[in-house]
Amino acid sequence: MDRKQFITSTTLAGLALCLGACNDDEGNVVVPSNVNFTLDLTAASNAALNNTGGSIVKDGVIVIALGGGNYSAFQAACPHAGTTVNFQGSGFRCPNHGATFDTNGKRTGGPANSDLKRFTVVVTGTNLTVTG
Ligand code: FES
Repeated sequence: MDRKQFITSTTLAGLALCLGACNDDEGNVVVPSNVNFTLDLTAASNAALNNTGGSIVKDGVIVIALGGGNYSAFQAACPHAGTTVNFQGSGFRCPNHGATFDTNGKRTGGPANSDLKRFTVVVTGTNLTVTG
C-alpha cells in the first residue's frame, strides 16, 4: 500500500466510524429520575405555563401547557445527544440535529432512537406537581 492508498483508506475508515457514531451520545443522556417538584402557576417565573403552547424547563424536565388546564411533562434532554428540546405547540423539536416528538413525547423523526420519558403532572388549584 502506497502513501496515497493509506491516506485514502484511513480517511474512509474514519468517515465510516463517524457516520455511525458522531454526534450520537444516545445511551449517555441522563434522564431525570426521582423527580418531585411543584410549580405555582401564579408565580412570574412560571407565567409561560398560563399560555397554551407555553413551556418551562426545571430540573431536567420540560413542562408544557396544552390548553384547557391540561399540562404534561417530559425529559428535556433529547435522547440523541442531550440537547434541550423546544416545545412548539404541536410537538417538540430538538434544535441540534432536528429530532422531533409529538405532544405525547413519541419520537416522530430525526436521529433520536427513543421517545421522551413522560412524568406525571397533577393539577391542584394553581399548583402543578410533577413526579416520576
Ligand atoms: S441532540 Fe441530536 S437530535 Fe437532539
